[in-house]
Amino acid sequence: MSMDSTAYSVLFVCLGNICRSPTAHGVFEKMLSDSLLAGQVYVDSAGTAAYHIGKAPDKRATSTAKKHGYELSHLRARQVTVSDFNNFDLILAMDESNLNDLLAIQPSSSKADVRLFMSFAQEAPCNEVPDPYYGGAAGFEQVVDLVESASQGVLEYLVTKVTLSR
Ligand code: 4NP
Repeated sequence: MSMDSTAYSVLFVCLGNICRSPTAHGVFEKMLSDSLLAGQVYVDSAGTAAYHIGKAPDKRATSTAKKHGYELSHLRARQVTVSDFNNFDLILAMDESNLNDLLAIQPSSSKADVRLFMSFAQEAPCNEVPDPYYGGAAGFEQVVDLVESASQGVLEYLVTKVTLSR
C-alpha cells in the first residue's frame, strides 16, 4: 500500500522504534485490516533517536505481540525525518519526551496533527506508553494493553474523519 493511494496516514513515534512504536504499528495495521477502513489508511512508525536504524523490533516486543496475535517481525527501525511532517496527517507520540522532541523539529509549514497516542484511549490509566526497554516482561505486556486501547480510539476517530471526507 502506498501513501499516495490512501485517504489518510498515521505515523507512530517512540524513542528507538524497536519496542513501542512497532507494537503500535503492528496492532493498528491489524485492527485497520479488520475494519471499514481496510486499505484506506497508510501506517508507519519511526524513532526520534538514531540508535537502532535498520534493526528489527526488540525480540521481547515481537514475542509479546505475537502472543496477542500481532506480527512485527517484518518491521525495520527508521528515524523520524522532517519530511514526515508533510507526509503524515496524524503523528502519535508514545510519551511526553517523544512529543516534545517532535514538536521541536516540526516545520512551521507542517499541517500534521502531532499528539500523544494515549490521548485517544477511552479509559486511559495513563497519558503515556511507558518505555519498556530497561524493564521486565510485564512492561511489554503493558505496552500491548495500552496500545490496543489507544488504537481502538484512533480507529473510531478515523472512521468518522475518513468517511466524512469522501
Ligand atoms: P522504544 O524503546 O522507544 O519503545 O523503541 C527503546 C528502545 C531502545 C532504547 C530506549 C528505548 N535505547 O536506549 O536504546
